[in-house]
Amino acid sequence: MLAERPRANEVARPRELSGGAGRSVNIGLLGMGVVGTGLLRALEAKGMRLEPRMGCYVRVKSVLVRDLDKQRELQVAVGLLTTRPEDVLGDPDVDIVVEVMGGEHPALEYILAAIEAGKHVVTADKEVVARHGRQILARAHQFGVQVRFEASVAGGIPIVAPLLRDLAANEVTSIRGIVNGTTNYILTRMAQQGLELGEALAEAQSLGYAEADPAKDVEGTDAACKLSILCALALGAWVKDTEIHREGITGLERRDLEYARELGYAIKLMAAAKNVDGVVYSGVYPALVPEESAIARVDGVLNAVEVETDLAGPLLFTGQGAGPSPTASALMADIIDVTAGTRLSTKAEKKVLYDEPAKVSKVTDLEAEYYLRLAVADKPQRLTDVRRRLRDHGVETSFAMFRELPQTESRVEVVVVTRRVKLDLVQEALSSMEKAGTVLEIGNVLRVEET
Ligand SMILES: NC(=O)c1ccc[n+]([C@@H]2O[C@H](COP(=O)([O-])OP(=O)(O)OC[C@H]3O[C@@H](n4cnc5c(N)ncnc54)[C@H](OP(=O)(O)O)[C@@H]3O)[C@@H](O)[C@H]2O)c1
Repeated sequence: MLAERPRANEVARPRELSGGAGRSVNIGLLGMGVVGTGLLRALEAKGMRLEPRMGCYVRVKSVLVRDLDKQRELQVAVGLLTTRPEDVLGDPDVDIVVEVMGGEHPALEYILAAIEAGKHVVTADKEVVARHGRQILARAHQFGVQVRFEASVAGGIPIVAPLLRDLAANEVTSIRGIVNGTTNYILTRMAQQGLELGEALAEAQSLGYAEADPAKDVEGTDAACKLSILCALALGAWVKDTEIHREGITGLERRDLEYARELGYAIKLMAAAKNVDGVVYSGVYPALVPEESAIARVDGVLNAVEVETDLAGPLLFTGQGAGPSPTASALMADIIDVTAGTRLSTKAEKKVLYDEPAKVSKVTDLEAEYYLRLAVADKPQRLTDVRRRLRDHGVETSFAMFRELPQTESRVEVVVVTRRVKLDLVQEALSSMEKAGTVLEIGNVLRVEET
C-alpha cells in the first residue's frame, strides 16, 4: 500500500538542531549492549573534537536498559540509566533518540513514540527497518523529523546514504553482496582451513563473531533483513525479509567448498536483488562465485555490497559490517547529519515513500547455472547416465566430474554444473532421478553467480 502523502498543514516544522557553538544536542539512548556501549565510548573519545563540525556539543541525557543491576563494561554516571521508556521518550530535552535495542517490538512502538514527540531518530535495528521502514519514514515525514538508519545494513560501510544521496541521479539495476560477517567468517575458515561447518562455527563463537544462538546468521534471516532494506532503497521494492527467498549455509559441507575451488569458485552467502523488465528478483543463498570476481576475495568477517548503476557504473563498497566501533561510526555519521540539519535527497525520499513499489519475485524464478553434488552408485557410465537423465528433463550440463567418497565403496559423488535453467526444472529432474535410482542421494544444489 502506498504511504499517504501528508497535507501541508499536517507537516510539523522540522526540529531545528544546528544552534551554534556552545549549544548542546541531547541524545536519549535506547539500549546499552554491544552497539550502545560502542557508541558511548566513541562519543566520549570524539565528542569534543566533533563539536566544531556539528556546531554544537552532543550530550547523552538518558539510557534505557532492561536491567539496572547488570554488570556493564562501561561505567556511566549515576542516574543516566533507566528502565522506564518514558524517561527517554517523554523527556522534552531529548532531541535525538538513538535506538540500539534491536528486535521488532517494542522498538517499533518506541521509534513511533519518539517521532510523534517531535524527536529525530537514529537506529541500527535492521529488523524494525526491514519490516516497518515505510511506515516509520512516512510518519517521520508527517511530523517533520528525520529517521536515519545507516548502521542497520552493513555496520561501518556507508551504503544507505550513498544510495539515497550520492547515487540519487542513477538508476540502480542490481545490488548484491555479502552482508553477514559471521557466515563469511565461517565459509572463509571452511575454505582456507578445510574445517567442517560445525568446527568453523564453534571457532567463530569462541572469538565472539557468532552468538550462542547463531540461527539468525546461519539461516540467512539477518542477511534477508539487510537485503530487504537495500531492495527498498536501491530498487524501490518493498519486500519484507520474511518474504525474501532464503537459504542459509547449514546444508554446506567442506567438500562443497573443495569441489567449488577445483572448479574455480569460492562459496559465499549472497544477498542479491536485480531489476529485470520492471520486476525485482531477490534472494539470500549460498552461491558459487567466480574466484576472479572482487566479491569472492572478500574474506573473514568483512562485508561487501556491489551496486550496478547507469551513470556511475559498477561500485563496490567493502569494510567491517559489524562490531562496536564500525557501527558507532555509522551511528555518529547519522547523528552528525541530523544535528547539522542535512537531509537525504528529496528525489530518493519521494521514490522510497510515494512511488508505486516495484513488482517483486524470487531470485529462483530467474534462470541460472547450478552446481549439483549427487551420490550415485559406483559403476561404469555413471557420469554419462547422470548427464543423459538430466538432459531428458531439459537440464543441459556444461561440466561433470566424479570423486570417490572416503570409506564408501559402493557409491561415488558426481559433481555437475548445469547450463542456465530454472531451479524448478532442476528439482523436478533430481526427484525423478532419485525415484528411478539414478541418484542415491542429493548432496547439494547451489546457484552459480555470474561475474
Ligand atoms: N552487534 C553488532 O555488531 C551490530 C552491528 C550493526 C547493527 N546492530 C544492531 O544493533 C542493535 C543492537 O545490537 P547489540 O548487539 O548492541 O544488542 P545487545 O548487545 O543485545 O544490546 C541490546 C541492549 O538493549 C537493551 N534492551 C533490549 N530490549 C530492551 C527492552 N525491551 N527494554 C529496554 N532495554 C532493552 C538491553 O538491555 P540490558 O543491557 O539491560 O539487557 C541491551 O542494553 C540490533 O538491532 C542489531 O541488529 C548490531
